[in-house]
Amino acid sequence: MANERTLTIIKPDGVAAQLTGAVLGRLEKAGLKILGLKRLRLTQAQAEAFYAVHRERGFFPDLVRFMTEGPVVVAALEGENAIARLRELMGATDPAKAAAGTIRKDFAANIERNVIHGSDAAETARNEIAFFFAGAELA
Ligand code: RTP
Ligand code: MG
Repeated sequence: MANERTLTIIKPDGVAAQLTGAVLGRLEKAGLKILGLKRLRLTQAQAEAFYAVHRERGFFPDLVRFMTEGPVVVAALEGENAIARLRELMGATDPAKAAAGTIRKDFAANIERNVIHGSDAAETARNEIAFFFAGAELA
């Protein structure tokens, strides 16, 4: 077991539905510690850069539109196996396929508007944390 850091975003649908507390509560209850936390609205350029890996996908314009439609809450998290643990708590990308008790199963509307983002690997976690937080902001 490794102590890891990862990044989560409560997406605009989750923030608009007042789910910030419920989602962060689940993460904390699961042992993930919040090292850094901020609420902000992504610009188009930021959303395109953050999800650049998907830029050739058909859903990319919709994804960028969605991620910029309102404020998000981003958090840097730390804990044992934090990267995989967060992905487990989130559930599958498509809430219809997500396991019972996961955040997406319980709260998400569809494969696109799915409430939460989580880093998918160690390198992306490092890059995604640095995208939003200066080192000195992570206490
Ligand atoms: P995320 O990066 O946000 O944590 O989501 P993920 O790993 O579970 O899924 P990923 O394949 O990385 O997709 C990123 C986000 O793009 C939107 N999406 N829409 N319409 C579609 O078929 C489709 N597929 C993906 C979702 O918001 C997804 O979370
Ligand atoms: Mg992803």
